[in-house]
Amino acid sequence: MSRPGSHGVNWDAEVYDRISDPQFAWAGEVLERLPLEGDELVLDAGCGTGRVTQLLLQRLPRGRVIAVDASPSMVAKAEERLAGSAKVVWADVQELVLDDPVDIVFSNAVFHWIPDHPRLFSTLHRCLRPGGRLAAQCGGEGNVASLTVAIRDAGTRAPFAEHHADIERPWTFRSTADATRDLVRAGFEDVECWLEPKPVTPADPRAYVATSALGFHLERLPPELREPFVDAVMEGLPEPVTLDYVRLNIAGRRPE
Ligand SMILES: C[S@@+](CC[C@H](N)C(=O)[O-])C[C@H]1O[C@@H](n2cnc3c(N)ncnc32)[C@H](O)[C@@H]1O
Repeated sequence: MSRPGSHGVNWDAEVYDRISDPQFAWAGEVLERLPLEGDELVLDAGCGTGRVTQLLLQRLPRGRVIAVDASPSMVAKAEERLAGSAKVVWADVQELVLDDPVDIVFSNAVFHWIPDHPRLFSTLHRCLRPGGRLAAQCGGEGNVASLTVAIRDAGTRAPFAEHHADIERPWTFRSTADATRDLVRAGFEDVECWLEPKPVTPADPRAYVATSALGFHLERLPPELREPFVDAVMEGLPEPVTLDYVRLNIAGRRPE
């Protein structure tokens, strides 16, 4: 398996594990509507700390999971948590090549971190057996709009601006129309995409925002500017901090 590209964020896996109740709940909803026999081979694309992978494994008493992530810290945490119950792979899902095709590709809170959706969907299509299904959720059009503005405003001010001058927003929040088009072009059928507002009021807003959203921006700052940048972003958010998440649900099938 190829080494993940250098564009990825090396997440703070310990903190993410602690603050990711919203992502865990959303993943549960995706899994609840996914019909499973219990004996499938499933790819968890962007498994993070393996917390959601464990939930997936509960639905697969006779099945198997391949859990892939690009962040070394996430892979280490997932390996520790899953302790051999799933095959954990350090890889960029865009470049994934599997020995055997899977029955299901599942993914939660990952695709918006990957800008090239046509390439991503082609790869996932190739990873599926004929008739296999894709069931995913990620950030969609309008996701965390107020946070995006606060990050942009902080990043255009001194002393952060010189380090953030050339960076693009790390997320791609697609509309249902764009996602549907890319999935159909990649070869999927029975495609369904829909948006769902999911506002979140985190218990520990600073840790939540820093870990779940700012990794990409913080990695581009010298260490002494990282905490001040988190402060600057938090000052740009209205109190109490409620993040206006909008999730993009994705379902599709590789034709028989
Ligand atoms: C918000 S976390 C979601 C983790 C987990 N699925 C969950 O629901 O808690 C996003 C994850 O996507 C992973 N990721 C982002 N881009 C990736 C890529 N190109 N290939 C593999 N993993 C990727 C990150 O490393 C991170 O672990």
